Amino acid sequence: MSATLNILVIHGPNLNLLGEREPGIYGRVTLDEINGMLAEEAKALGVSIEAFQSNAEGDIIDFIHSRRGAAGILINPAAYTHTSVAIYDALKAVNVPAVEVHLSNIHARESFRRESLIAPACVGQISGFGGDSYALGLRALVNYLVCSPRGG
Ligand code: DQA
Repeated sequence: MSATLNILVIHGPNLNLLGEREPGIYGRVTLDEINGMLAEEAKALGVSIEAFQSNAEGDIIDFIHSRRGAAGILINPAAYTHTSVAIYDALKAVNVPAVEVHLSNIHARESFRRESLIAPACVGQISGFGGDSYALGLRALVNYLVCSPRGG
């Protein structure tokens, strides 16, 4: 029997305020609700998840380093999407397949949000489906891991 895939779920800055933060853009769903929904999805997919949120770039990088044996990473880098060479470098350094997700469609917003520095370090990106972006991203990541295992 093969081992259960362990997926890291990383939420970047200000996502701890989901539910009250700019609900017209991000909706009313809270971070706890998103993590709960992902736990259900993970159960259905037969994988385990470990969720982490931080408002600090270095803490996100330390978390990625410390869990570098994980099978995959689902990440909403939030504002660091548009600024963080360091998170890009961390994902490249650990070489763990990652999927980038966003609640809002970053390509339909302010011009500074349209570029992701993180996307080139990821397998793909899902953007614009609210909380569903996370569920879709988890499914896409697990499909990718099952169909294209590392070194396979
Ligand atoms: C976001 C989009 C980012 O531009 C923004 O800085 C966020 C949230 C999203 O999920 O839509 O904090 O990543």
